[in-house]
Amino acid sequence: MRDLLPLIGPTGSHPGGRSAMTCRYRCGDACFHAVPNTSTNEYAGDVIAGALGRRSMMRAAAAVTVAAAAGTAVVGAGAAPAAARTAERAPGAAPESFTGGRAARGLRFTPVAPNTADAVTVPEGYGQNVVIRWGEPILRGAPAFDPDRQTAAAQAGQFGYNNDFLALLPLPGERGRQLLVANHEYTDEILMFKGYDPAAPTREQVEVAWAAHGLGVVVVEEDRRSGRLTAVPRHRLNRRVTATTEFEVTGPAAGSALLRTSADPTGRKVLGTLNNCAGGETPWGTTLHGEENFNQYFANASRTTDARYGIGTGATERKWERFDQRFDVAREPNEVHRFGYIVELDPYDPGSKPRKRTALGRFKHEGATIRLTDDGRPVAYSGDDERFDYLYKFVGSKRMRHGSSRAAREHNLTLLDEGTLYVARLTGDSPAIEIDGTGRLPADGEFDGGGTWIPLATATAKGAVSHVEGMTAEEVYVFTRLAGDKVGATKMDRPEDVQPSPRTGKVYVALTNNTNRGVGSNAKADEANPRNANKHGHILELTERRNRADATSFGWSLFLVAGDPKDPATYFAGFPKDRVSQISCPDNVAFDPHGNLWISTDGAQLGSHDGLFGVATTGGRRGELKQFLTVPKGAETCGPIVQDRRVLVAVQHPGEITGATVENPASTWPDGPGRIVRPAVVAVWRKDGGDIGV
Ligand code: FEO
Ligand code: CA
Ligand code: CA
Repeated sequence: MRDLLPLIGPTGSHPGGRSAMTCRYRCGDACFHAVPNTSTNEYAGDVIAGALGRRSMMRAAAAVTVAAAAGTAVVGAGAAPAAARTAERAPGAAPESFTGGRAARGLRFTPVAPNTADAVTVPEGYGQNVVIRWGEPILRGAPAFDPDRQTAAAQAGQFGYNNDFLALLPLPGERGRQLLVANHEYTDEILMFKGYDPAAPTREQVEVAWAAHGLGVVVVEEDRRSGRLTAVPRHRLNRRVTATTEFEVTGPAAGSALLRTSADPTGRKVLGTLNNCAGGETPWGTTLHGEENFNQYFANASRTTDARYGIGTGATERKWERFDQRFDVAREPNEVHRFGYIVELDPYDPGSKPRKRTALGRFKHEGATIRLTDDGRPVAYSGDDERFDYLYKFVGSKRMRHGSSRAAREHNLTLLDEGTLYVARLTGDSPAIEIDGTGRLPADGEFDGGGTWIPLATATAKGAVSHVEGMTAEEVYVFTRLAGDKVGATKMDRPEDVQPSPRTGKVYVALTNNTNRGVGSNAKADEANPRNANKHGHILELTERRNRADATSFGWSLFLVAGDPKDPATYFAGFPKDRVSQISCPDNVAFDPHGNLWISTDGAQLGSHDGLFGVATTGGRRGELKQFLTVPKGAETCGPIVQDRRVLVAVQHPGEITGATVENPASTWPDGPGRIVRPAVVAVWRKDGGDIGV
């Protein structure tokens, strides 16, 4: 921590609100470094606004009144009577007749109040259990967890560290069982090893960390009476993928000279995946995993292209470059070009080689989620989680085949290799002067507008074509951020998880925060990112033209502008703000079986621990946001899954508070005092066995 401390304030928190320790181990101190996007993309809204239609000033005035008149944050069950409202109805708000009734189906629970308990706090009437913790053996032969005697070999057969994205897949033929797939984004060495010296990590510690990164596959079994979900160790499908597992590179950049290294002259064989943050499931039964802050593992970079990815010029925090020269850019310049992709795993085939899909571009992929076109081709949405970076989509050119035949499966495993990669440009429909950076709604009553998907490159079986002047196709695929700069993509406030609604097709994009917006020479607020020094983040709702997933234009509006509902700069799709929970820093998003959006947070800034929230996206209760749970001290809520009878969350980096160590922990979750703090997956269920929120 030594070299970081002078940079942080007296509270030890970082500019975006997280503990400095989180910044260090998770993002490689991204927020302390200069914004990597120094391109001069102009916001197109200033030019185009004014040419588009206006809504009535009357509605706008009403909306501003509602924003200013917001009452206290809700913590009680159900909704208050409609008569409690004090302001005129905002555009898009719930009609009076609905607001006094019951919450949307799936969201009928007593909201959890903001709190700082070192526990997972769930609504009244709900129970919970830890499904699996860091270090629990999942493979045959793996030993029981012993933090004092951890080895790389043991860790490679155990559940990894810092679980993030989760998927639960069906397991036909095995009653009451499902297949859990998890990302293990990164390691907190100082919370893993007693007496850890950041200046001199040992080889064994480094190799444990390699084995604690990556992906985990483990069969889980439900107890139908109690609702508990538990891991099934040694199942034949259980698997660990780590920082040293062999991957195949596929798609247009496979074999490129930019990907060849001394260990792999083919440019097609990579060891490991790193910093897997969010992900997605495909309709053909595989999982996708983003390689996010991969930059932090590579030392001694000097090229402009590396700088655009935030790859540092000196040593790394974890010092892996001392133990494997591939992490030293000065010695192995192309290894870093082999990270930053979406990886695809076939969790039903434990012997299969995972793939890195270069057709989806290289950036700090938060994750990728799939929607099919009307004719069955995959469209993958993906955010680049960096301040002022971009939102992307890939439109495949091959149709998915149905059925479980070998031929169908093999075909579907090629779907993400051919198609066109696009980046988003968003334009507001209000005059720039009305976007004053405070979050005040413009005169038309909404932050909204239109946008285009700008093509970057197209990959076919015969080769790839660049659509970006001055860049070859392989450059577009390997230096995708630079391609986005060249075509004038819109600089966003950290695009994280993206989720298309399976019911409406609308696409939701979590924009976590950006405290640098409007600060210094950085881009100022625009209609799609309307607050300067944006601490709390927002959620964008995107409607593809004619609701076609492969459209090249779209409409958008801000569905939610996060924060304390009493803050006039917040917005909850027009729902009365005295009936919603506070929320800060939306990160991962998921849909429940009823069509409600669930949002987990990372770095909540309102005096409460992070949490999980549900919000209705349609109907009279649209915008009614309710907190379902909170996580322990220092933790982030990740990987939400909401099924009919169960909610799953990954509790990531509990106890990750600056100054904490194994000997001096900030949290003792989940096993209590005297036991090491452990990231873990938690299942939440209704004690009476009923469905969630009905
Ligand atoms: Fe790993 Fe973008 O959060
Ligand atoms: Ca507008
Ligand atoms: Ca995330």
